[in-house]
Amino acid sequence: MTLNLSAIRRQFPSLDRPAIFFDNPGGTQIAKPSLDRITRYLLESNANHEGAFETSKKSDAVLDEAHAAMADFYNASSPEEIVFGNNMTTLTLHMSRSLSRDWKAGDEIVVTRLDHDANVTPWTLAAQDRGATVTWIDFDVEDGTLKMDQLEKALERKPKLVAVGYASNSLGTINPVAKIVRMAHEAGALVYVDAVQYAPHGPIDVQKLDCDFLVSSAYKYLDA
Ligand SMILES: Cc1ncc(COP(=O)(O)O)c(C=O)c1O
Repeated sequence: MTLNLSAIRRQFPSLDRPAIFFDNPGGTQIAKPSLDRITRYLLESNANHEGAFETSKKSDAVLDEAHAAMADFYNASSPEEIVFGNNMTTLTLHMSRSLSRDWKAGDEIVVTRLDHDANVTPWTLAAQDRGATVTWIDFDVEDGTLKMDQLEKALERKPKLVAVGYASNSLGTINPVAKIVRMAHEAGALVYVDAVQYAPHGPIDVQKLDCDFLVSSAYKYLDA
């Protein structure tokens, strides 16, 4: 199967200029139908939610539709598992504050050197505040893959959380997320997956991955 690139490019008005875009996460270029839908929302139903008036009801309906669409995108088991936010970084900062509330001195968390800072600093800051220890997982400089033996060792100490990327923004490595989730769950850890770089490129099935949280730019799956 070949992709009709010019038909796809025509969907993206921002690409209609002589430029080459290398960025695909928070700065993802937006397709015309999405731009039109945002404009229509702002013109026809922009209102505060859960009111008794018409634009409020319309606004609620748009939100319900958006939650359902994202649940479909991630194959979440319910639209209620979807949370919208400003961007991945802000959502992760919020989540790190909530999830770290019961961490205490001596607890451990795991982050990786293959991850974007947005899936590292929120966790290391939270660990610092709670006196928890951070274990870093390195990657193999030859092939860019995560050192799974280090992860295995780290899990022996029963960390509270493993924060891991789905695809690396710097190397393009696709991590074995389902396997990492399985290993982490066996050790009793929650898994927080940064799918910002993977979401625009590959199908995501959060039920198959069995992750606890999965974030991508501007929206997120929450297994509450
Ligand atoms: C892998 C990865 N995670 C997280 C982020 C941050 O995403 P956001 O701009 O939605 O905060 C980026 C942005 O470049 C990224 O590449």
